[in-house]
Amino acid sequence: MHALIVVAHPEPQSFNAALSHAAADTWRAAGHTATVADLYADGFDPSEAPRHYADRLDTARFDAQREQRHHWERGTLAPEVGHHVGLLQQADALILQFPLWWFGAPAILKGWMDRVFVYGGLYSSRRRHDSGVLHGRRALLSVTTGSSAAACAPDGREGDTRLLLWPLMYALRYVGFDVLEPHLIHEVRSDPAGDTARHRDARLVQALADYRARLRAWHTWPRVPFNRDTDFEAGVRLKPDAPAYGPFIRHAGT
Ligand SMILES: Cc1cc2nc3c(=O)[nH]c(=O)nc-3n(C[C@H](O)[C@H](O)[C@H](O)COP(=O)(O)O)c2cc1C
Repeated sequence: MHALIVVAHPEPQSFNAALSHAAADTWRAAGHTATVADLYADGFDPSEAPRHYADRLDTARFDAQREQRHHWERGTLAPEVGHHVGLLQQADALILQFPLWWFGAPAILKGWMDRVFVYGGLYSSRRRHDSGVLHGRRALLSVTTGSSAAACAPDGREGDTRLLLWPLMYALRYVGFDVLEPHLIHEVRSDPAGDTARHRDARLVQALADYRARLRAWHTWPRVPFNRDTDFEAGVRLKPDAPAYGPFIRHAGT
């Protein structure tokens, strides 16, 4: 099995970087192979924009999806996009490693999805969800927060982190991944209140060990439930007898 670990953090000595290397080491120690793609180190450009398309389908008006499909079909996508699409195609497992920034992923990671999940290649109206191109592969969000576990709980002041991550998880589901329950490490700060540096370091060392242990039991990692395509009337509205797994897709009036 091959794992692709995409890390979105500007500091190579950060805790997020350490988590990405811990994941790769653990994966390799289990006899598998792993690639770490460091978006900042690679200078990945997260802005989807006309400048990435040399031979435009329509030079009068930029339509990102039409240009993506056109360039996918011609094999003329920007080299960095082609490279990352190749990395995804080789991977049985994808881990996105990032700090929570403003209640979501750092912009570089969101832009990676905007550009690398290529319309016409990695998804289309016929190939998504249950029929997604990357069907049969697993994806995990591994996320650190500065706020405490209590503040990131469903009744916490920061809002439920798992819920905040739903749009990212749904994007992964959209392109076909089986999405695993996110791995969250809270209170990752250089100045945690009431904490000494030594205590904080010990906490983070333990958090790394816990993450390694969970990765070693990768096959038992719980999955995020999503509706099947057949749960939707005419493929659009949730059928009255279909399950609802959370507030994002729920029965009207609930
Ligand atoms: C731009 C920015 C936005 C942030 N937004 C949040 C946030 O919304 N919620 C939170 O708990 N922490 C937030 N933080 C704190 C980071 O999540 C925290 O510093 C990081 O997880 C620590 O990991 P690191 O040591 O690898 O950087 C933010 C930090 C930055 C720089």
